[in-house]
Amino acid sequence: MTQKLTEKYRPQFHFSPEEKWMNDPNGMVYFEEEYHLFYQYHPSGTIWGPMHWGHAVSKDLIHWEHLPVALHPDEHGTIFSGSAVVDWNNTTGFFDDEPGLVAIFTHHDTYPETDTVRQRQSLAYSHDKGRTWIKYEGNPVLSDPSMTDYRDPKVFWHQPTSKWIMILATGQCVTLYTSPNLIDWEFASQFGDHDGSHAGFWECPDLFPLQVDQDPSNQKWVMIVSIGDTGEFSEGSRTQYFIGDFDGTTFKNDNDAKNVLWLDYGRDNYAGVSWSDIPESDGRRIYLGWMSNWRYANHVPTTDWRGAMTLPRELNLVSTTNGIRLIQKPVTEVNSLRENGFHHDEEVIVNTHPLSITLDDALQEINIEVENIDSSVIDCVIKHSNTEETLIRYDTEKEELTVDRTNSGEHSFSSSFQAIQHAPLSMVHNRIKLQVFLDTSSIEVFANDGIAAITSLIFPTEGSEKLELSSQRGSVKIHSLQLTKLTSIWV
Ligand code: FRU
Repeated sequence: MTQKLTEKYRPQFHFSPEEKWMNDPNGMVYFEEEYHLFYQYHPSGTIWGPMHWGHAVSKDLIHWEHLPVALHPDEHGTIFSGSAVVDWNNTTGFFDDEPGLVAIFTHHDTYPETDTVRQRQSLAYSHDKGRTWIKYEGNPVLSDPSMTDYRDPKVFWHQPTSKWIMILATGQCVTLYTSPNLIDWEFASQFGDHDGSHAGFWECPDLFPLQVDQDPSNQKWVMIVSIGDTGEFSEGSRTQYFIGDFDGTTFKNDNDAKNVLWLDYGRDNYAGVSWSDIPESDGRRIYLGWMSNWRYANHVPTTDWRGAMTLPRELNLVSTTNGIRLIQKPVTEVNSLRENGFHHDEEVIVNTHPLSITLDDALQEINIEVENIDSSVIDCVIKHSNTEETLIRYDTEKEELTVDRTNSGEHSFSSSFQAIQHAPLSMVHNRIKLQVFLDTSSIEVFANDGIAAITSLIFPTEGSEKLELSSQRGSVKIHSLQLTKLTSIWV
């Protein structure tokens, strides 16, 4: 990092652009020991506008080097979301001796005759580790004049069929295409007309295999689909996922078509996808989302920049009594942010005696494991000041975890911002385990080893923090409580 950024609400350990507007993460790919992060970027404004791909690289997913804008609009339109891959075997013919990067993205413009939206898929490639890009002269490589919403290609190499697969958001479903060379694409199948949530148009899909319970002989495919904000549902834009099988052509959903699985129960995790080309020796599936919501993204109260990403998260599949589910936890590299810790001893707290601890810094990781004895509601309150707080609550009867930001600070920029965010959550052996990350303008809560996540922006106007734990009607035992001050990535 060149410069320490300390403006009000500037994330201190989440990725944000140095200045101007950012939305979706794009083209995430690992190549020659660098994690690339491209992103939807408007370099001349702090609200959404003509899209470019901004660019940053990292060695550890935590500290980022900002690089110049990678892709600029051209005669085919502005540059919407998409992905990037390493063309290891030069299937494109774009490379000579060394493999290089290929970006597959949506060109967005309008039909000259009718002025209606036109979205087509195009390519760019790089010979110098993503520092400079050449747009493919045959762009666009994939179009369908019958489609309006036709965007956000995510591409991967499918070894068993020796083909590239593209998953594309097409209206309210996804369409899969295959290609030998990233240039010539053939229709394979469609999925989703009758599956999952149709609360809005589908965007930013992803498709990848994962082991279930870390068992190499038990593999399932996960499809991630973001759903746009139609204004109809209070949650705004959000992200669902499906679990099933994929044979190189068709995705088959394992669950009942009506069953909706949410990737995150908070309001602020959207358009997330996973990194390409992470080496097999690492083996992780790493995910990153845009930490905002189309409902109010253009209005959040930051100054020179707008937009931040979630913490990078490792995704896994586990079997539960409800079926196979996706779990997520921050990548272990996040541990390098830990500065000094404070461990609270085991203690039983009852409703009459809440526990109150002053936090020495606003950047915190809080790990807590509590056992319910006879409590109805367990509260973990982050007091930002005497008047502002974010309330994490577990209701033992409803079996529900909530993060309440109605009173967490600035909210006047949008009538939709004040919210209580709900996640269903069962206790495990009568216990609840929470891992909480508190940055200057966000809170991320991972519950019971990541079976539920709640990602939420918050805008506390002051930063003196206190943690209060309490129990309503009865008592609860704190098994462990670890408060760890986190360091800023800007220093
Ligand atoms: C998702 C999205 C994408 C699109 C991009 C435009 O947030 O709407 O579907 O490509 O943002 O910036």
